[in-house]
Amino acid sequence: MKLTVVGGGSTYTPELVDGFARLRNTLPVEELVLVDPAAERLELVGGLARRIFAKQGHPGRIVTTSDLDAGVEGADAVLLQLRVGGQAARQQDETWPLECGCIGQETTGAGGLAKALRTVPVVLDIAERVRRTNPGAWIIDFTNPVGIVTRALLQAGHKAVGLCNVAIGFQRKFAAMLGTSPHDVHLDHAGLNHLTWETGVRLGGPEGENVLPKLLAEHGDAIADDLHLPRTLLDRLGVVPSYYLRYYYAHDEVVRELRTKPSRAEQVAEMERQLLEMYGDPALDEKPALLAERGGAYYSEAAVDLAASLLGGGGSPYQVVNTYNKGTLPFLPDDAVIEVQAAVGTKGAVPLPVPELDPLFAGLVANVTAYEDLALEAALRGGRNRVFKALLSHPLIGQYEYAETLTDQLIAHNREHLAWA
Ligand code: G6P
Ligand code: MN
Repeated sequence: MKLTVVGGGSTYTPELVDGFARLRNTLPVEELVLVDPAAERLELVGGLARRIFAKQGHPGRIVTTSDLDAGVEGADAVLLQLRVGGQAARQQDETWPLECGCIGQETTGAGGLAKALRTVPVVLDIAERVRRTNPGAWIIDFTNPVGIVTRALLQAGHKAVGLCNVAIGFQRKFAAMLGTSPHDVHLDHAGLNHLTWETGVRLGGPEGENVLPKLLAEHGDAIADDLHLPRTLLDRLGVVPSYYLRYYYAHDEVVRELRTKPSRAEQVAEMERQLLEMYGDPALDEKPALLAERGGAYYSEAAVDLAASLLGGGGSPYQVVNTYNKGTLPFLPDDAVIEVQAAVGTKGAVPLPVPELDPLFAGLVANVTAYEDLALEAALRGGRNRVFKALLSHPLIGQYEYAETLTDQLIAHNREHLAWA
C-alpha cells in the first residue's frame, strides 16, 4: 500500500508517521511519500519520519519529494494537510477581524473565510493533478476549513472524504472518564465541521445505551472546564458542544481574550521553530512531547482508521467524517457537507441516520451552511461582492458595516493569494 501526504513537510507529520508505525496491522503502509515544496523542512521531517519507522521496526519506505505528480503516482490514498501561506497567513486571519470586534480565528468567522479563499483553488488544483495521474486514489482532506474544502472537492467530482480530530478527541476523553476502551464509545455527533455537538454517547455502537446524561452528571465540571464554558450552559444544552462553539456561545468573551494575548499563530510558529530544531537532531527517533501541545491530537489514529476503511482494511465500521448530507439533516440541501457518523467502506462514507436536531442547534447549522455555500462561491469565482455576501451571512458578523470593513481587510491581507484581487 502506498500513501502520499501533501503538506508532508508539516510539523504534524511525525504524529501521522507515529500512527502509521503503531497501527501497522490496521494499515500496512509499504511506501509513504511526503510531498512538500519546502525542501529544507521536508528534509528535517523526512529524516525523523525514517527514524520513527526504523525504531519501531516498520518495514515501510519513506520517500520525500517536491514533485506532486511523481508523489501521487500509484498512491492508494492521498492525504491533504497543507496550509496556504503558512502560519504568517494564519496570523493575519487571527488579528484583523478583531479590529471590528469580531473573533479572529483560522476556521471560524472572517479569518475562516480568508483561509477558504486562499485554500480552495490550491486544493482543487492538487486534486485535479491527483485525478490526472491517479484517478483511483482516495483523497482524505484534513486541510481547513474542512467542510468548505471537502464540498469543493466533492462538487468537482473527486473521491474525497473530509477529516477532523474533534470527534476522536471527545471519544478518547469520554472513554477515559467512563473507564472503558475508546472503541466501545460511539458518539452521536452532528453538525458541520467545527460546528458540532455530541448529542449522545453510546456504549458498544450506534444502538447502544446513551450514557451522556450520566457522563454530564458525573463529569460535567471537567467537561465544561475543558471547553472553557460554564457548567450551567452544558446542563441547559443537555449535549456537549465542540470547543469551536465557544466562538459563538462566548463570542465577546473570546474577543476580549484574543485582544490581550499572543495569537495562536504566534504560539504555533514558535512551537514549530522548536519542533523543527528537534527534528534535525539525529538522535531523536520518536515524536517529541511538544507536538502534543498542537491541536491535532489523535489525528493520526483518525487518519489511519479512515484510510484503512476506504482501502478495504480493518478500520472501524463507523467513523465521523465530512461528506455530502444527502437527506441526513433534512433541513439542509443534499449537497451540503456535514460532519456526522458514517459507515465507511471502499465505496466511501454513507452517513448514519441522525436523530432530529433541536432547533437550538439546527438553526445555527442552517445559517452556517448558507455561509459555507456563499464562501465556496466566493472561493471559486472571486469578487468583492461575493466576499461581502459570505461575510454578511455569517452569524458572527451579520452587520453590513462590519462586512464592508472585513471585506476590505480580507482582500488587502490576502491579495497575493487571490488570483482575482
Ligand atoms: C484541531 C482542529 C484542526 C486544527 C487544529 C489547530 O485539531 O480540529 O482542524 O487545525 O486544531 O491546532 P493548532 O495547534 O494549529 O492550533
Ligand atoms: Mn478540525
